[in-house]
Amino acid sequence: MIYVNESNKEFHLENKGASYILNVMKNGQLGHLYYGKKIKHRDSFSHFFYQPEVGVGIIAHHEDDPGFSLEYFKQEYPSYGTTDFRKPAFEIEDIDGSRVSDFKYKSHKVYKGKNKLSGLPSTYVNSEDEAETLEIILEDEILETRVYLSYTVYNNRDIMTRNTKFENFGNKTLKLNRAMSLSLDLPDYNYEMIHLSGAWARERFVKNRKLEIGSQYIDSTRGASSAHQNPFVILKRPETTENMGEAMGFALVYSGNFLAHIEVDHFDSTRVTMGINPFDFSWNLKAGEEFQTPEVVMVYTDKGLNSMSQSFHNIFRERLVRGEWQYKERPILVNNWEATYFDFNEEKILEMASKAKDLGFELFVLDDGWFGKRNDDKTSLGDWFPNLEKLPNGIKGLGEKIVENGMKFGLWFEPEMISKESEIYTKHPEWLIGVKNRKLSLGRNQYILDLSKKEVRNYIIDILSERFSEAPISYVKWDMNRNMTEITYRDLPHKYILGLYEVLETITQKYPHILFESCASGGGRFDAGMLHYMPQVWTSDNTDAVVRLSIQHGTSYAYPLISMGAHVSDIPNHQTARKTSLELRNRVAYFGNFGYELNVLEFDSEVEKQVVEYLKFYKENRKLIQFGDFYRIDNPFYGNTATWIVVNKEKTEALVGHFQILAQPNPGYNNKIILKGLDPEKKYKVNEKYEAYGDELMNMGIVFSQPDRYFSKNSETQDFKSRLFKITEVR
Ligand code: DGJ
Repeated sequence: MIYVNESNKEFHLENKGASYILNVMKNGQLGHLYYGKKIKHRDSFSHFFYQPEVGVGIIAHHEDDPGFSLEYFKQEYPSYGTTDFRKPAFEIEDIDGSRVSDFKYKSHKVYKGKNKLSGLPSTYVNSEDEAETLEIILEDEILETRVYLSYTVYNNRDIMTRNTKFENFGNKTLKLNRAMSLSLDLPDYNYEMIHLSGAWARERFVKNRKLEIGSQYIDSTRGASSAHQNPFVILKRPETTENMGEAMGFALVYSGNFLAHIEVDHFDSTRVTMGINPFDFSWNLKAGEEFQTPEVVMVYTDKGLNSMSQSFHNIFRERLVRGEWQYKERPILVNNWEATYFDFNEEKILEMASKAKDLGFELFVLDDGWFGKRNDDKTSLGDWFPNLEKLPNGIKGLGEKIVENGMKFGLWFEPEMISKESEIYTKHPEWLIGVKNRKLSLGRNQYILDLSKKEVRNYIIDILSERFSEAPISYVKWDMNRNMTEITYRDLPHKYILGLYEVLETITQKYPHILFESCASGGGRFDAGMLHYMPQVWTSDNTDAVVRLSIQHGTSYAYPLISMGAHVSDIPNHQTARKTSLELRNRVAYFGNFGYELNVLEFDSEVEKQVVEYLKFYKENRKLIQFGDFYRIDNPFYGNTATWIVVNKEKTEALVGHFQILAQPNPGYNNKIILKGLDPEKKYKVNEKYEAYGDELMNMGIVFSQPDRYFSKNSETQDFKSRLFKITEVR
């Protein structure tokens, strides 16, 4: 619901649980009044407009109003250059070099539903009644530019989205040096900032810090959202837990360089800005042109972090992901990468696929190395035609045989990249990104195609279409394995992402039956932008079950289980050399989009039997896991265990995973799990062993036994010990 108090130009936006209130200030610019728990609407919120006493000291105020200094006020979309010294939301450079602006309220409109963003991914509505949008237009007469601020509130969700558009309606070319999607001023700084940070093979580890006076930020300057920082940030109250308390989450629907900046000023107030990273960004806004920022999806809750995460999971699953695969249970895949690396041929692949079929796998994925002259990672990217020495019948022949044998067939591509040793580079050396007359940096021996060029985008679309049309491909792993360097122009990183989105939009619309999985050396581009085109992501190259507890736990703060590729791999693990049981590896991978990544031909008959059972279990629980509500119970970043539960929407069944990292002597009362999300009134069966009501399970919990000492040489180690509980309603 959106209320507009016309007389005092106040706007009150309500979603399921939150209110967001802004107004037009007396200087004509927009002020911010409130974002928090939903409050009753009233005719005026002018008493929310708090003006502190103007203190002595060095401040700036307007010539004609000594009391009016913007640094005292909460603002909606603050500008650079007058009386506010905090980080502005935007900066426009005039032809004379001036960067001062004065955007005043001009008009607004409220409409049902939500518009698409031009050229960019965004959340959407299926019916106009799901959401309402407020668009406010601001105008600067001297710059002859308008700013359109759009706010969408979903009626039955804790979700609000924001984006900004700039329109140059004058005759001169302006320079947009900063164009954030969101700016939000909060009246205090009693928050902790949670962000998901890491690197290759340890993506999205949970980091938590108390806000301090000054700036704290996360960003990416790598041309992709990155494994190092994720375009997602949470502000929570210190007392907030997984299950209670205030939290706000901000997710940027964007896959390139981003900035999430939190500034605490000298009045202890907090400003959150989020959007395209102004570092390496500048955009010529020519006469008559528009610039659209990416969308930010925001959640406010007073019900704790699990509730916040579930709001993101639901909107991402239901109103960000699109296409035929959106609500389909995802196939259990087996991928040959760690089984063979580049060393395979048709015979070997068919043998693996046939065994995989017998074990119960549903999709065989042929990874890197099937094209050009690719026998290591030094050549052939861009030459997307089959290597006939390895695959004499081509991709078509191989794919058809796998499909005839009753499995789906999937293929790996890295379409954004080019190797110098390739046919395509010989023909088009000018297609790669780089500065002329300078040496170029390599990343995994490869270069990046300049996707800002139309002919490059067309080449990618055409060559992929050739492969997709000739062979029965029903899954594509879309990889991207290096960061951007030698960036020629400041607008290139954003133009690249716009080009990428254009290619992805074309290809995914053209081949709607293909299930796309995005990948960037594992989870180097796991963001809401990619999810709009590709409904699942390879979470990390690190498949070690113990590290995966942290990676999947961190990823779940924003992204749903169905989006997280989670595979069982061989031991010793290829990333950590750790040996863990097959049971643990399966159980950790269950809490994600399940698959295997090893040589199925190496199983002995005993292991084969176990694998058949593991796959059967996932299939039986797949709908629950992929579409249920996920709760974090224990956090592996703060203790020795990770405990997770996923409950179906009807609350008739649930799956609990309890993972103990190292054995603890004398565990005392630590042998219990307090469940979440069940119906307190319903009676459930626990592992077909005993019955208990939901209220018991969510208060007394499940109690299990655990040795406190080990007397025998044959004692089972409690290191890396996992427990799985299936909870089913008794009717
Ligand atoms: C990086 C990916 O993350 C891996 O899974 C694999 O596909 C390799 N690239 C192949 O080169």
